[in-house]
Amino acid sequence: MTDRQRPIRERQSVSDDRTAPLDLGAFPPGFAWGTATSAYQIEGAVAEDGRGPSIWDTFAHTPGAVDNGHHGDTACDHYHRWPEDIALMKELGTDAYRLSVAWPRIVPDGDGPVNAAGLDFYDRLVDGLLEAGITPSVTLYHWDLPQALQDRAEDCRGGWTERATAEHLARYASVVAARLGDRVTQWATLNEPLCSAWIGHLEGRMAPGLTDLTAAVRASYHLLLGHGLATAAVRAEAPGARVGLVTNHSTVEPATTRPEDVAAAVRADGHTNRWWLDPVYGRGFPADLRELYGVELPERPGDEETIAAPLDWHGLNYYFPVTVADDPDGPVPHAREVRPPGLPRTGMDWPVDAGGLEAFLLRLTEEYGVRRLYVTENGSAFPDSVRPDGRVDDPDRTRYLEEHLAACARALRKGAPLAGYYAWSLLDNFEWAYGYDKRFGLVHVDYATQRRTVKASGRRYADLIRAHRAQAG
Ligand code: FCB
Repeated sequence: MTDRQRPIRERQSVSDDRTAPLDLGAFPPGFAWGTATSAYQIEGAVAEDGRGPSIWDTFAHTPGAVDNGHHGDTACDHYHRWPEDIALMKELGTDAYRLSVAWPRIVPDGDGPVNAAGLDFYDRLVDGLLEAGITPSVTLYHWDLPQALQDRAEDCRGGWTERATAEHLARYASVVAARLGDRVTQWATLNEPLCSAWIGHLEGRMAPGLTDLTAAVRASYHLLLGHGLATAAVRAEAPGARVGLVTNHSTVEPATTRPEDVAAAVRADGHTNRWWLDPVYGRGFPADLRELYGVELPERPGDEETIAAPLDWHGLNYYFPVTVADDPDGPVPHAREVRPPGLPRTGMDWPVDAGGLEAFLLRLTEEYGVRRLYVTENGSAFPDSVRPDGRVDDPDRTRYLEEHLAACARALRKGAPLAGYYAWSLLDNFEWAYGYDKRFGLVHVDYATQRRTVKASGRRYADLIRAHRAQAG
């Protein structure tokens, strides 16, 4: 059995002890305690102050694309209510906040004139955060591509299938960095390129809604190229910038020890994990997956080095583990997800396994040599309701939070260079194709009134942060 075929859990000798108390002493002084959101999921104000349409406006308004016909037109109205939302962050005691900038507010048609009002909005937001003692971590691209770029099909099907989009991202990145780089030091180029490429172009469940393997593979390539170009662009404009990439991962295990299932798990791990990490960490695109996809990559000399530009940090978004069985007739990567027995499930029907977070933090540390890590997203959706006394009790979410923080503590004790944790999410918000019914917030949002209520999980997070600060001094 090769190393790649061994279950990740065994490789990292992860063992969950669900009863052990949370080891707060493992978190170093200065650890960043944060929450995360993204522009389209919370801002609303989609036609205000010169913002152009994005592929998510188009997708959300396509009949049948999003549950209940929900869309982000108003969302949490954060565009107008951000001072209240910063006050909520203070109430939680967080000292870090991960937000994304909406490209269509800054360059409404993707590569044309810059919209000053868009820059002004983020300028005020950043100042407000800093005044409140909260360090912003800015993600440049969280899936809201200007629609104009999607409409410009040159070599393929527009948007990320075109090389030019990677160059436009870099130009947009330099515009934002030039404006905010005197106050923002923590930058991420992309959020979860896997979802943009695989879910948006192969599975069709996210914008732009394509189901085309060639488009998906080209998109994956141009997203990573755009990441590399944008990394250089931010550094050129903001010399003190620390630039990273945010990727989402799952541990992948075979359903049985049958060689077919073990091979399926290797393919699925490649599709979910190695395809995104190997090229960024200088190993190039994995040969086994190139062969599996059978799509020629739009490679040019120098791209490999651009994509592998050394990073200052890596952001891991972790939600659930994956178990697969061989599925020769199914779509790429010919691996069917099966329900592992015995694991609880969230309201998304995602299995809960905090050990997977520990394992992945250690994999990034040991296999990829990452020197500075953040958990940039982690959280759970459960149906919540506001009780007559105005409280929201969410024991399942609280438990998920505690278990995953315990996993971070174990990874820290084993040497993972983890510098911060951003809970997904500050607020209930527009959960993409699931609309507003899936609630991930530490703060409940009543969409009819825009009233915010801190949930019990939010109060628990605040207690833990306070306890850590008291202990760490
Ligand atoms: C991640 C996304 C984030 C949010 C969570 C639940 O894939 O980055 O925007 O929707 O899932």
